Amino acid sequence: MADIASPIKIGKLTLKNRITMAPTVKFDFTDDTGVATDMLVEHYKERAEHGCALICVEATAVVPSGRFCRGHMGLYNDEQMESQKRITEAVHAAGIPIIIQLNHTGMTGNPELGEVIAPSAVKTRNGGTAHAMTIDEVHAMQQAYIDAAVRAKMAGYDGVQLHACHGYLINQFASPVVNFREDEYGGSIENRARFGVEIIKGIREVCGPDFLISARISGYEGSVEESIQTGEAYVAAGCDYLQVSSGIDDVEKMERDASLSYNAVCELGVRFHEHFKGRVPVSAVNGIRTPEAARYLLDNDLVDTIDLGCGILADPALPEAILNGTPYVECFNCARCQYGPGGSHKCPAAMKRQKTVG
Ligand SMILES: Cc1cc2nc3c(=O)[nH]c(=O)nc-3n(C[C@H](O)[C@H](O)[C@H](O)COP(=O)(O)O)c2cc1C
Ligand code: SF4
Repeated sequence: MADIASPIKIGKLTLKNRITMAPTVKFDFTDDTGVATDMLVEHYKERAEHGCALICVEATAVVPSGRFCRGHMGLYNDEQMESQKRITEAVHAAGIPIIIQLNHTGMTGNPELGEVIAPSAVKTRNGGTAHAMTIDEVHAMQQAYIDAAVRAKMAGYDGVQLHACHGYLINQFASPVVNFREDEYGGSIENRARFGVEIIKGIREVCGPDFLISARISGYEGSVEESIQTGEAYVAAGCDYLQVSSGIDDVEKMERDASLSYNAVCELGVRFHEHFKGRVPVSAVNGIRTPEAARYLLDNDLVDTIDLGCGILADPALPEAILNGTPYVECFNCARCQYGPGGSHKCPAAMKRQKTVG
């Protein structure tokens, strides 16, 4: 049984316990420059100071066209890199490591920010057709991820997390649902994994053995077993940590015992853990918003670590509540999270907390 408060070694880092902050983009906490603002520094500092073992900074664009919107952070120039030093310093001052999620939107891209690109010429979200990337464009994009990782290291991050789930570019390459390429980046699982694999190898080569490389991987593309094979390819390339979430294919197709206390997305992490146990640390996410839900997964040895999304947005003190049973404000499970696109940022849990904590 893994004690939730026990340390765990991930790559060359040792996390002080099993609770991590999931990447959660804060829409409009920055502007078109994509630099880290005071609001972002404060947001991560506050979450680092309340018991979690690792902060993963939100999806951050590797090129301007890979942003969700104009108010989205980037790591494609040195001004952005310099601005991020304030985030890493604040989190390190709280005594814990920090990584950053690197992303490109691919077929879900915003056409106002540049041509929408994808592995294949699939439909875009505004009804257009994505430009299928040429081999040269594939290689240039891989280099953009590697360059962003180098900037992340210069900014003081302990590692990076590749955004390889939720339907974004690395996930698009890995998915049989939207990747119809007939070259070495499409077809077999090995070929579809290649885009991510070569990025991981490139980052490992330039950032060295001590730099943590995590992949937030889709646990269901074709099947869980296929996604596990993609995970194996990432690990063989140098990935230290698999943080499992959903992707493009419909996870609800997965046969499962609906009476389990955790949901289907969280179960993907559990299935990966069964496979990689003792070899590669695996985290689960989704719906882990109370101390009971968090403890259940660790007490039953179902995963190595748990990632908190809305729970830690709602109240930064949730990790302390999980560890020590101290009070916290529970996420209201709003139909639409107010931190998300078009949200008011008026989180009801944060407002309740402000009234009690001040
Ligand atoms: C406001 C908001 C922003 C998010 N941004 C990201 C992101 O940048 N990268 C990512 O991989 N997932 C993102 N997610 C998904 C979360 O990391 C997490 O997987 C999801 O919220 C489910 O976990 P939870 O039930 O603990 O909230 C976001 C979710 C929310 C609500
Ligand atoms: S209470 Fe609502 S706005 Fe706040 S984190 Fe939870 S879902 Fe998001």
